[in-house]
Amino acid sequence: MSMIAAFYGNKSILITGATGFLGKVLMEKLLRTSPHLKVIYILVRPKAGQTLQQRVFQILDSKLFEKVKESCPNVHEKIRPISADLDQRDFAMGKEDMQELLASTNIIFHCAATVRFDAHLRNAVQLNVIATQQLLVMASQMPKLEAFIHFSTAFSNCNLNQIDEVIYPCPVEPRKIIDSMEWLDDTIIEEITPKLIRDWPNTYTYTKALGEMVIQQEGGNLNIAIIRPSIVGPSWQEPFPGWVDNLNGPSGMIIATGKGFLRSIRATPMAVADLIPVDMVVNLTLAAGWYTAVHRPKSLLIYHSTTGGLNPCKWSEMGLQVLASFKKIPFEKAFRRPNANFTTNSLSAQYWNAVTHRAPAIVYDCYLVLTGRKPRMMKLMTRLLKTISMLEYFTNRSWEWTSANSEMLRSEMSPEDQRVTVLTTQAARNRMDCISRYCLPLRKSLAG
Ligand SMILES: NC(=O)c1ccc[n+]([C@@H]2O[C@H](COP(=O)([O-])OP(=O)(O)OC[C@H]3O[C@@H](n4cnc5c(N)ncnc54)[C@H](OP(=O)(O)O)[C@@H]3O)[C@@H](O)[C@H]2O)c1
Repeated sequence: MSMIAAFYGNKSILITGATGFLGKVLMEKLLRTSPHLKVIYILVRPKAGQTLQQRVFQILDSKLFEKVKESCPNVHEKIRPISADLDQRDFAMGKEDMQELLASTNIIFHCAATVRFDAHLRNAVQLNVIATQQLLVMASQMPKLEAFIHFSTAFSNCNLNQIDEVIYPCPVEPRKIIDSMEWLDDTIIEEITPKLIRDWPNTYTYTKALGEMVIQQEGGNLNIAIIRPSIVGPSWQEPFPGWVDNLNGPSGMIIATGKGFLRSIRATPMAVADLIPVDMVVNLTLAAGWYTAVHRPKSLLIYHSTTGGLNPCKWSEMGLQVLASFKKIPFEKAFRRPNANFTTNSLSAQYWNAVTHRAPAIVYDCYLVLTGRKPRMMKLMTRLLKTISMLEYFTNRSWEWTSANSEMLRSEMSPEDQRVTVLTTQAARNRMDCISRYCLPLRKSLAG
């Protein structure tokens, strides 16, 4: 039997960000492989007119959880949603809920974050730094806590080319940034943001780096591990190939290409597209939680969950594979025939944006107006190009991440765990196999 699955079998687990992409897959795998776990507490905020119960029911009724219900029919009873807003002091949590969490939690997985690249620095600091700090304070009051697993990103130090599994100091101490957020107004923060974040490309990666420093400085005696995934994409195998429910990052790019909206991007064809399927990140996370709790390493360990060093895929190969996939199964109502051009030059990128993106959008909007419909293509195109421009920093560079801790973790796992737990795409027969495995189902998942 899997030692990792058995380990979680009698635990009370707290997950923040369980309604997000990674959090849902983590929750699903825990329930499917350790159906006897005591409870999963999830911190949820009411949203879009839905109560938390409605939000949780919607998640558990989704396709992602179909398999779980076979091994864990009472899945609804295993999830205990707790109303919480991580932007608020003490997470705006009820006293009784807080006491129950403090008394019972064995393992914490801290996934919640703002992943918006263009978030206002105040919001990004609040969620990615201050909320982490508050959670550490809570964790220090949990007598039964065995492990605290924090999600960071492989790009938290993207201002460096070679990244080791260590925490790199930020130029300004997190405490000073947190203090300044209290008395500076939003306009001044906006003005000084470029100076503060220096060579980080956005507030997301910068505040994730600050979050890591907070963990290091304020983690005290807690047993902590940090997971640093690169670009998380649809599932490779579990619970089924190609699961994804958002259009963030590569998924959005792939769909926009398949639909014929996006035909040219500013990307270096030979740069590595460091994508990691979500199920592999979750596998590593669960293994790290088990190792941290059972082996209690002397210092905080950081685990890179990346593919570039082991099984690199370049953006040009990615483009070819995506086109081949859509040739096999095209979208029914595509805007144009899919194509994928790469340019590294900003002038030619502007030219292609005008010619292949904006001009057809204007023509199409004219057609909509002439046929009595509301124009919408230019609005959609502007949003798409804005999103793609935020990814340019990442599509034009390559990074090298070391992975000694992930390799050590694998060697510590039982033969059965090594058999059932795929930690990296190295296990894929080759890199193309991995891309096509999630590209085709991705197209099916998001069809329409
Ligand atoms: N996806 C990637 O490519 C990637 C790559 C590297 C690292 N990571 C890291 O992995 C973690 C999870 O990422 P993800 O892709 O799953 O993000 P996601 O889909 O955007 O999910 C974010 C989660 O945080 C929750 N959250 C945000 N603000 C909150 C608040 N004020 N109070 C309570 N909950 C709040 C969201 O709740 P709502 O549903 O209520 O909004 C959601 O559950 C993050 O730490 C991220 O930095 C992600």
